[in-house]
Amino acid sequence: MNRKGKNILITGGAGFIGSHLVMMMVNKYPDYRIFNLDKLTYAGNLENLRSIEESPNYTFLKGDIVNADFIQNIFDQYLFEGVIHLAAESHVDRSIDSPNEFAMTNVIGTLNLLNSARKCWAGKFEGKMFYHVSTDEVYGSLGETGLFREDTPYDPRSPYSASKASSDHFVRAFFHTYGMPVVISNCSNNYGPLQFPEKLIPLMINNILKEKSLPVYGDGTNVRDWLYVSDHVSAMDLIFHKGRKGETYNIGGNNEMKNIDLVHLLCDICDEELSRSANSSRKLITFVKDRPGHDRRYAIDAGKIKRELGWEPGTLPEKGFRKTVQWYLNNGEWLNRVTSGAYQQYYQKFYLT
Ligand code: NAD
Ligand code: TYD
Repeated sequence: MNRKGKNILITGGAGFIGSHLVMMMVNKYPDYRIFNLDKLTYAGNLENLRSIEESPNYTFLKGDIVNADFIQNIFDQYLFEGVIHLAAESHVDRSIDSPNEFAMTNVIGTLNLLNSARKCWAGKFEGKMFYHVSTDEVYGSLGETGLFREDTPYDPRSPYSASKASSDHFVRAFFHTYGMPVVISNCSNNYGPLQFPEKLIPLMINNILKEKSLPVYGDGTNVRDWLYVSDHVSAMDLIFHKGRKGETYNIGGNNEMKNIDLVHLLCDICDEELSRSANSSRKLITFVKDRPGHDRRYAIDAGKIKRELGWEPGTLPEKGFRKTVQWYLNNGEWLNRVTSGAYQQYYQKFYLT
């Protein structure tokens, strides 16, 4: 693909995965002009992007993907040739509390982007790509055995996964109905620096650091497949540039763990890094009421992306978890700022809407 001068829209680039992706794209592809569109919800943090905010090939656009007129205006103005769509409400527990917000952002927001891309591209699809970033949670919950494959039937069970499943269906419908060049990936749980501390790993590290209790849902035997965020970014790079149109790629870490085993590991790494006595953080673990509809097990068969695009996770879990713990322990100020919401007030003065 000729990259020279192409305008690429990344949505949700101030969030956890999006900020890692934006940094990679801005640094690795100086010929692209990268536009990061983000509403800056509680989960969006421009502080994450300080290292590239002055780059000549980077522009931040503050806006809401639910606002169809705004989306149309930016497509008219910047004539994006590629879209990598990550903006979403992403936390299962919040979706249980307020499902409508998830339908608006994840479903209507995605549809607005599809409509504007289709109008902008007006049937001239050569060199264009709409890449939709989704989750393995659309496949539902596994028992003791089995893996999610690209042809596993959808069976979403939380409002979050239902909204992501719905958005995936719209993306595929635009491929089949209008011939839009689209590609989708469904990835397992990510971890690493810059993740908002409502998700399991940063929440546990933050609580260990502050010697607060560590809430493990149910009996702690639910299983997730953990992938280091940079490995997800390298997969996204390949899928955006080399993925086949209309295809879906599953991405996973080959790294299934029971929640309780993971929390034990985080406690032990933190104890070592903080020079606390052995087993002291494990004492903070508290088993709490289970999440309603808590999916039992997620696990990915990532054979297709390996065969077609040569991708495999590059980070060994023991290295990835230690690097992650070290990052949060070394960035206590970041943790305090994002949990206090101070960063949102700071940036409001630059991006008032
Ligand atoms: P995140 O919650 O950290 O970030 C989401 C970003 O989207 C934030 O910057 C937020 O401000 C922005 N946003 C939310 N609503 C918006 C709106 N209406 N308009 C514009 N921007 C809006 O999420 P994340 O963990 O970085 O996930 C990114 C994407 O990857 C999501 O689509 C998610 O479904 C998917 N995904 C995440 C994981 C994971 O483990 N975190 C795994 C697989 C797939
Ligand atoms: P989470 O990070 O919310 O990701 P997801 O629900 O999308 O997989 O949760 C990961 C697992 O950890 C999930 O099984 C729920 C569990 N969990 C806890 O036990 N305690 C917590 O405080 C949180 C946030 C999650």
